[in-house]
Amino acid sequence: MCGIVGYIGDKGASALLVEGLRRLEYRGYDSAGVAVMNGNGVEIRKAAGKISKLEAVLSAMPISGNVGIAHTRWATHGAPTECNAHPHVSMDGTVAVVHNGIIENFSPLRSKLQALGYKFVSETDTEVLAHLIQAAYEDSLEQAVMDALSQVEGTYGIAVISSRDPNKLIAARKGSPLLIGLGEGEYYVASDVSAILAHTRQVVYLDDGDIAVLDRNGYRILDNDAREMLRSVSKVDWDLGQIERGGYAHFMLKEIFEQPQTIENTMRGRLLDDTGTAKLGGLNLTDEELLRFDNIVLTACGTSWHSALIGGMMLEDLARIPTKVEYASEFRYRNPVVTDRTLCIVISQSGETADTLAAMREAKHRGARTMGIVNVVGSTIARESDGGSYIHAGPEIGVASTKAFSSQVTALLLFTLKLARLRALSPVRGREIVEALHALPAQVQNILDRADEIEALAEEFKRASNFLYLGRGYNFPTALEGALKLKEISYIHAEGYPAAEMKHGPIALIDEMMPVVFIAPHDSVFEKVVSNVQEVKARKGKVIAITSRPEPALEGLIDYEFRIPETLDLVTPILASVPLQLLAYFIAVKRGSNVDQPRNLAKSVTVE
Ligand code: F6R
Repeated sequence: MCGIVGYIGDKGASALLVEGLRRLEYRGYDSAGVAVMNGNGVEIRKAAGKISKLEAVLSAMPISGNVGIAHTRWATHGAPTECNAHPHVSMDGTVAVVHNGIIENFSPLRSKLQALGYKFVSETDTEVLAHLIQAAYEDSLEQAVMDALSQVEGTYGIAVISSRDPNKLIAARKGSPLLIGLGEGEYYVASDVSAILAHTRQVVYLDDGDIAVLDRNGYRILDNDAREMLRSVSKVDWDLGQIERGGYAHFMLKEIFEQPQTIENTMRGRLLDDTGTAKLGGLNLTDEELLRFDNIVLTACGTSWHSALIGGMMLEDLARIPTKVEYASEFRYRNPVVTDRTLCIVISQSGETADTLAAMREAKHRGARTMGIVNVVGSTIARESDGGSYIHAGPEIGVASTKAFSSQVTALLLFTLKLARLRALSPVRGREIVEALHALPAQVQNILDRADEIEALAEEFKRASNFLYLGRGYNFPTALEGALKLKEISYIHAEGYPAAEMKHGPIALIDEMMPVVFIAPHDSVFEKVVSNVQEVKARKGKVIAITSRPEPALEGLIDYEFRIPETLDLVTPILASVPLQLLAYFIAVKRGSNVDQPRNLAKSVTVE
């Protein structure tokens, strides 16, 4: 949610840190700050608001030095003010800390420190860390950090510098991602690889409990008892172009337009045309083991939960295995029936969502086998799951998820195909699905080539205050996803419903001011959807229909139509979601919203 960058080397830290923050701004963006060792001590600059505010402060009052830490914040404890922005500094001014996560016992720690005479200047939980480190500091910064962390309950990714040991940078992780970037005589710390990708691709992902001690000559990773740990170096295969906007107005638009390629990447090398199945290398399960499961739980949050809903339907439909789909945030606190014959599929773009991670751990604890469908390589869910499939969608920077959704559904379809062919699905039907998947990237491109039609539609509806999205079967989750995209970036109230449920309540909302988006491709429930369109039209609702062919049954019933190419029922959500992403995007832009950084949101929700 928040972002951390740290640097130690011989270059000017301030510029490198701000550049890193810019690349992390998508993760949280209500305030930012840097701390740099300036030769005499730790110097701090902070600003409420976006990174540009911090840049203005730094250009008015530059700091020079080549060791520093920086942070972009998404407020948890305390308002998004300059005072609450990180870095936080110890009372004697010698220690500066940036922190992602939540210190759960900050209140008793604060009282304890206050009783010892420590004065607090912010409302944050993080400030206790700075004071705890000062209090524990004898002659080693890393030891002081360890002592401080041993008193803390909660989650953290932290970076710490101190003027008492000015050529050192400490990083520590528990429950909040952190990595070290390796350069020549210089080292980086970051919560997300995009912050440092311009400088190095060699990274070491820290594990929970790790404390990294960096200086210009190298790094050591210690555990809580100061024992040295070995961690492997990974090479990041994302390139810089992928984390830049290119010629696009927004990351979200770029990512929507990347979908033909990203879907192709999800499928690359995984489709077996002759046998009508898929192969997935990372499952770590033999076919015999796969056949042992007697139920599947899919768990995720937000857009990824919508993918899970579609995946659950596919798995029951094709693989004929009982499937449940759970919000990760609910699953973790229920008493779910999970056994050693349960396969728990965990879906997450970032691989760091706190609720999803906790749900996965809970499922594991109850004996389930866990499988991650994840985008970010090396993320915690990817590393802690028993196996899984990367979706290979490349970095998703726009806060509203688009290309990750289409790739998640594609990956779930690949897995369904594999399991279904092992269980009951015929090779003929398998080959039909493989063929539909091969056609998919070009079909998505066909939709994107007609983006101007959607833009015109957005012009018509940009002033609406409410929207309903209705679909049935595989496209009920598409309706939920369409509504979520619109509300999160345009701030228009939008609801998704199974179309037939409308008459049990939401139909009361319909009048001539209510746009209703029907996802109505020619699938097995099309006739049923037509009846629901009639019900809306009879109440003068404005009907926008996503169809797949000229439909006489809809004549006179729809006000606006956008056609997607024809495909199998279970592939329609991938195609139908693309015009809905575009609709949300164009409406939001026309309303003047900050599409890539919508208010109150953050990419990757690493707190509960
Ligand atoms: C919506 C969106 C969020 C995420 C959710 C889960 O556009 O992006 O709803 O889908 O926060 O995030 P991941 O997939 O990273 O676990």
